[in-house]
Amino acid sequence: MIFGVPELEDLGDLDGKSVLVRVDFNVPINHGEISDDLRIRAALPTLRWLQKQGASVTACSHLGRPKGTPDPRYSIAPVRARLAELAPGVELLDNLRFDPGEESNSDAMVASLVDGHDAYVNDAFGASHRAHASIVGPPQHLPSAAGRLLAKEIGVLLGLRDQPRRPFVAVMGGAKVSDKLTVIEALLEVVDAIVVGGGMAFTFLKAQGHSVGSSLLEEDMIDTCARLLEQPKPIHLPTDVTALGPGGKLFEPEAGGEVRQAGVDLPDGWMGVDIGPGTAAAFGDVIMDAGTALWNGPMGVFEDPRFAAGTNAVAQAFAETRAFTVVGGGDSAAAANQFGVDDRVDHVSTGGGASLELLEQGDLPGLEALRSSADH
Ligand code: 3PG
Repeated sequence: MIFGVPELEDLGDLDGKSVLVRVDFNVPINHGEISDDLRIRAALPTLRWLQKQGASVTACSHLGRPKGTPDPRYSIAPVRARLAELAPGVELLDNLRFDPGEESNSDAMVASLVDGHDAYVNDAFGASHRAHASIVGPPQHLPSAAGRLLAKEIGVLLGLRDQPRRPFVAVMGGAKVSDKLTVIEALLEVVDAIVVGGGMAFTFLKAQGHSVGSSLLEEDMIDTCARLLEQPKPIHLPTDVTALGPGGKLFEPEAGGEVRQAGVDLPDGWMGVDIGPGTAAAFGDVIMDAGTALWNGPMGVFEDPRFAAGTNAVAQAFAETRAFTVVGGGDSAAAANQFGVDDRVDHVSTGGGASLELLEQGDLPGLEALRSSADH
């Protein structure tokens, strides 16, 4: 058991049994090619362990957001091919979201999923914040447990939430404050300081009275940011930015437009697209002094090499600090990979929304379902 959730060993003898495993193989696919198979590799310890016990293993996953009907754009075929290379013998069902019953959690969908299986394993950490049929349904019908990946994610993230080594610093980035506001508010309860970069920093800077030019701005969040800045825990904001001038376009250096290091007051037409070098050094110092450091969201448009320096600096600080380091899902996991530090941090979470919701609420629908399965 981990945080009251049964683990693989709690399933008993699995020799000759058929096990349904919910995985999160929602991987990025470009032109039919998987560009990052982290989520598939992350489920291998569970799949291989089950096979070693003599179980026959059927995996199931969603891929993308099809609207409850088969859609070739979300074909799971590339995932099935990669899985066949990595874990031969493991079956993979079709994209779960081709059936509307997955998201509506219909009884019929749950019945068809559990049919023919003797046990259920949830190893889909990245989808465990969704109360969908494949996540919350099977534990009501089959002996159920968390897989290795799910157990590791909850051990690290809930451990971090309950007993962090201090000072605990959360580095938040990405485009939108509104997406992360409730998380920032919840994190302020447990962290000692928050570092804010990325597009969302400009709404905070505006709340401090700066002019942010043409940078990303969420007008309706300005008051909320002002309120957050008044609470007593430090929120570190950029003191300089890398800005793209009028006429410039992201990802199109040939379009022209000047790139300049600037302060945090930008003229009209100038867009802040990365933290500047002074800010990168200051953020690095905060990360180096941390006991625990959590990173969610890039510091700039790092996919454009002109604006990658700030995110790279944070990635390097995460690799070098003696703090216990956790990178939370999605874009930051991709950034950690791109800047070569993914194996130098303590934990790269496979969940984006799931890791934030777990830190925010201390629980997830998928975990509750597994816990209640242990009761019957
Ligand atoms: C993710 O990529 O965060 C998970 O696979 C969940 O996907 P969803 O946001 O489409 O439910």
